Amino acid sequence: MSDSLSKESFLAVVGLFESVSGIRLSEAKRPLVEGRLHKLAQRLGVRRLDDYVRQLLEQRDPAEIVRVVDKLTTNETYFFREPQHFEFLARLAEDHGGHETFRVWSAASSSGEEAYSIAMLLAEKLGPTGWEVIGTDLSTVMVETARRAVYPMERARHVPREYLKRHCLRGHGDQEGRLLISRALRQNVRFDNANLMETLPSLGSFDVIFLRNVLIYFDNPAKEAIVNRVAPLLKPQGYLFTGHAESLSNLATQLRPVRTAVYAR
Ligand SMILES: C[S@@+](CC[C@H](N)C(=O)[O-])C[C@H]1O[C@@H](n2cnc3c(N)ncnc32)[C@H](O)[C@@H]1O
Repeated sequence: MSDSLSKESFLAVVGLFESVSGIRLSEAKRPLVEGRLHKLAQRLGVRRLDDYVRQLLEQRDPAEIVRVVDKLTTNETYFFREPQHFEFLARLAEDHGGHETFRVWSAASSSGEEAYSIAMLLAEKLGPTGWEVIGTDLSTVMVETARRAVYPMERARHVPREYLKRHCLRGHGDQEGRLLISRALRQNVRFDNANLMETLPSLGSFDVIFLRNVLIYFDNPAKEAIVNRVAPLLKPQGYLFTGHAESLSNLATQLRPVRTAVYAR
């Protein structure tokens, strides 16, 4: 099987992916694109990548396009990533008056580790009810993985030991080496598809929005559009968290910086 794409095929895939996700892949991503499309082509028994792309563009099968988009997104994530945000969130939860449900949105939730980390912390600080976490992502495969809530045990190395004991179940038998997020947590966490480049579904308003490690893939106009679409979903005293490598400083938004990677309305 030939595993290189012609220039035309590569640009066609880049254009297709950009039209769906808003993310423009550079030439540097060519090996990644080829590697991932290779698996999809193999699945259909198509020998040449260029033939696969031609078929993709001719047939425009929505399910196959979703598979391509899923394969090309970068889903890297882990539990309790960027711990300063969780320390800040812990203080907000402690100060929460408890009249209203404390609501948090993980706005590019990938396989769900971020949303479940938030849930563990809120369960610790607020108890079993009175809070809710929504996770959304462009990738349907990631949304399904997040709903399954099963992770290899080695992914739990940043989860505090007591949290593991209280909020995760250790797999046995054919689930050996895996953990399942407890039912009590899962009841307060839900996942859906949402594309940050399009009109958002109605999600309600949030005390905190995690918009982390996703802006990095967009150019400034797209970043600005995303932040201005997301920020109105903050409650008046709400906070938006970005990844520590992502700054909003050059963007026209209604948000003011509070500390590194934390913004308020
Ligand atoms: C690197 S992960 C970040 C996961 C998590 N927020 C974290 O910080 O660990 C980036 C996620 O953004 C999602 N994504 C990319 N473009 C998106 C879009 N236009 N709308 C919604 N999600 C998108 C990807 O599918 C991927 O799961």
